[in-house]
Amino acid sequence: MTTITLVQGDITRQSADAIVNAANSSLLGGGGVDGAIHRRGGPAILQECRALRASRYGKGLPTGQAVATTAGELDARWVIHTVGPRFTHEEDRSELLASCYRESLRVADELGARTVAFPAVSAGIYGWPMEDAARIAVETVRGTDTAVEEVRFVLFDERAYEAFARHAG
Ligand code: AR6
Repeated sequence: MTTITLVQGDITRQSADAIVNAANSSLLGGGGVDGAIHRRGGPAILQECRALRASRYGKGLPTGQAVATTAGELDARWVIHTVGPRFTHEEDRSELLASCYRESLRVADELGARTVAFPAVSAGIYGWPMEDAARIAVETVRGTDTAVEEVRFVLFDERAYEAFARHAG
């Protein structure tokens, strides 16, 4: 049984077994959550990301997939990097966004992580409407069979928190 909890704040300040990064395919950093994780987590994370690019993911991590690295100096054992889809009106990419949550939980299970902190994947720079991002996140976690005991959504502002609260309610 997975418990869903909601917190308003900065995901890089969370203590959890694994912290999920809203990354991009390059795995080499960016803005938003990604920038914050690399800044606070230190260079060890980027070093492992570079190694992943040189080995398993020469063309980058595909959208909807997830991969783990060390969490460096963060208060976590692992960072799970996942690549959300960019929002577009031309195509329904909801399944790819759901896949980010499912794949991150699958990687968490492989690692043996029991507490996992997620941001609102795709709901920032990638433009996904927050209400819909919250619905997909909560429904997907609820529908995923996992040994993770706590999924903590860490929402940056009140608007995001309230959207998640409406769906997790
Ligand atoms: N803690 C928690 N949530 C945060 C934090 C933080 N420190 N910082 C931002 N958010 P985003 P995306 C919120 O843009 O939309 C990067 O450049 C933010 O307000 O981080 O998946 C990557 O490299 C929003 O609600 O991720 C990719 O290129 C949510 O986290 C691209 O951005 C996600 O916003 C990924 O875009």
